[in-house]
Amino acid sequence: MNRIVLDISKVFGFIPEKQIYDRAKEAESANAALENATGKGNDFLGWLHLPSSITKAALDDIQKTASDLRSRCEVVVIIGIGGSYLGAKAVIDALSGAFDNLSNKKPVIVYAGNQIGEDYLHELSEYLNGKSFGIINISKSGTTTEPALAFRLLRMQLEKAVGIAEAQKRIVAITDKARGALRTLATQERYKTYVIPDDVGGRYSVLTPVGLLPIAVAGIDIRQLVAGAVEMEKSTGTNVPFAENRAAIYAAVRNELYKQGKKIEILANFNPKLHYLSEWWKQLYGESEGKENKGIFTASVDLTTDLHSMGQWIQEGERTIFETVLSIAQPCYTVEVPKDEANLDGLNYLAGKRVDYVNKMAELGTQQAHVAGGVPNIRIEIPELNEFYIGQLLYFFERACGISGYLLGVNPFDQPGVEAYKKNMFALLKKP
Ligand code: PA5
Repeated sequence: MNRIVLDISKVFGFIPEKQIYDRAKEAESANAALENATGKGNDFLGWLHLPSSITKAALDDIQKTASDLRSRCEVVVIIGIGGSYLGAKAVIDALSGAFDNLSNKKPVIVYAGNQIGEDYLHELSEYLNGKSFGIINISKSGTTTEPALAFRLLRMQLEKAVGIAEAQKRIVAITDKARGALRTLATQERYKTYVIPDDVGGRYSVLTPVGLLPIAVAGIDIRQLVAGAVEMEKSTGTNVPFAENRAAIYAAVRNELYKQGKKIEILANFNPKLHYLSEWWKQLYGESEGKENKGIFTASVDLTTDLHSMGQWIQEGERTIFETVLSIAQPCYTVEVPKDEANLDGLNYLAGKRVDYVNKMAELGTQQAHVAGGVPNIRIEIPELNEFYIGQLLYFFERACGISGYLLGVNPFDQPGVEAYKKNMFALLKKP
């Protein structure tokens, strides 16, 4: 079976191979601490065996709700912030057509509650005017200001447009089983609800209904997504030795690089559909490791786009970075460069070649340049962009993040720092 390939050979010029394999015991212990729930934050390990424990009945139920929303709505608004929307957005963008939202494909998926932009909310409301729309409102705590604000506005608009009874059929709430304002509201309004398990934190929740329902509404095959994650769950477990355990190796390598002063990891992709995969990854690692005055800063670039902007910094800026490249082996479609008799653009040397060949040469040339310029390079090759491999990738990053956090010595499952801005904002807003 084809699998995601992790290539760390372009790190060995910076860290001897032996030094990485010397970390095997520590990485295996960190993985065992996850498995045996003996590490920090061990009450938040519900994600660890989530893929293999999702039942067919649960997936069928999500699929049924998704089909119902798809049949009722031209547009579905996903409300949520941070871990309550990034996983869905990452998968939907990776696996949808680049122009789906501009074509006649229904439903159109839009997002709200992931910021507090007044103009955005006004423009969204104008866009939804006269359209049949539904809402998936996601908040684990059920009290987060950004989604709560968006939901209040959109719920009222929907109720005004279609009446309370129909609105109730078009709203789904995903939240805590008992706590929070959203649970209270959902119970009172009799919305269809899904529970975010207590032991799954927001940034690890993409394979719960938080991610699966919006992804299914977008017409993406959630069974294959979960099947990919199950495959990765099996191949990153504690029974898999370090040398074959891609999650453990990735975790060990990035920690060794960090110890050598590589404080910033840049996740680079060569396919624009992966932009939000990087945003999801940034939260996963940034929020899991950035604490106790330590942790790799997670950054991302879209290539070749950003080679024409941040490429200069990556090539010659401060040497505190390393790069992890996501490379898709096979595109979904074939586009060849046509021959042009006039050749005024001088591109005939590429005639008959695939556009992807040009992209791959750009990737290789970039790797050679960056490694020569002092940037260690980790490469993750994804056979193709489909549900199965994206499922693998999501779980790979989650498992590696847990191991990596333990290698760093932090609790990878809390986020005490995010409360600071809220405290100030609530005081300024005079929240009772
Ligand atoms: O990963 C996390 O815990 C956060 O990003 C949360 O998902 C985010 O703050 C939203 O929280 P909630 O789902 O409670 O609205």
